[in-house]
Amino acid sequence: MSGEELIPLHGARAIQGAVRRLATAIDSDSHGDPLTVVGVLKGSFVFLADLLRSLKSPVTVDFVRIASYGKGVSPEEVRFINDVEVPLRGRDVLIVDDIVDTGLTATFLKRHLRRKRPRSCRFCALLDKPSRRVVDIDPDYCAFVVPDVFVVGYGLDMNERYRELPDLYSIAPAASVNRRRKHG
Ligand code: PRP
Repeated sequence: MSGEELIPLHGARAIQGAVRRLATAIDSDSHGDPLTVVGVLKGSFVFLADLLRSLKSPVTVDFVRIASYGKGVSPEEVRFINDVEVPLRGRDVLIVDDIVDTGLTATFLKRHLRRKRPRSCRFCALLDKPSRRVVDIDPDYCAFVVPDVFVVGYGLDMNERYRELPDLYSIAPAASVNRRRKHG
C-alpha cells in the first residue's frame, strides 16, 4: 500500500451478515423462482460471489462491463463494453453492482435490460451513496448506505488497487483526488 490512509468502514463479518440478509430478502421476494443474475464488472465480482452462495433461489449468471464518458450527468453517457449474452425475455433479472453513486450506471442498465423484456428487473447494490445522485433511482436492495467518501476493498478499487481486501475502507480525502471515475 503506497501512502494512502485506509480507514476501516465495514469489516468482513459485518459484510457477510449484510450479504446473508440481502440474500434472504431476495429469496423471499423471488418465491423460489429462478433468477438471472447480471453482475456489473469489475467492482461487483467479490460481492456477487458471496451473494450467489447465500442465495437459495436457482440462478443463472452473466456479466456486463460498462464504460462512461462525458460529464457524468446523463445515462446517455454510459455504454456497454460487454452486453449480456444469456436471453432475458420472461426472466426475473437481478442486476448486482458494488455501488450506486450518481445512479447513471443503474439507470442505463435498467433501461437497457428492460428492453430485452424480462418478467422483472431488480437492482442490488452492496453500497448506496445517495448524496452523489444525479438521477432519481434507488437500488431495490442495498447492504450499506455510505457517506460521500471514497470506498475501497471487497471488490472496489482505487486505480485498480485494493479490490482484494476482505474489508471495506474509506480513503482519507487528501489521497482520493486521483480517483478514476464515479465513486468518491
Ligand atoms: C463503479 C461501480 C458502478 C458504478 C457506479 O464502476 O462499480 O458500476 O461505478 O457509479 P454511478 O452510480 O455513478 O454510475 P467503475 O467505473 O469504478 O468500474 P469498476 O466496477 O470496474 O471498478
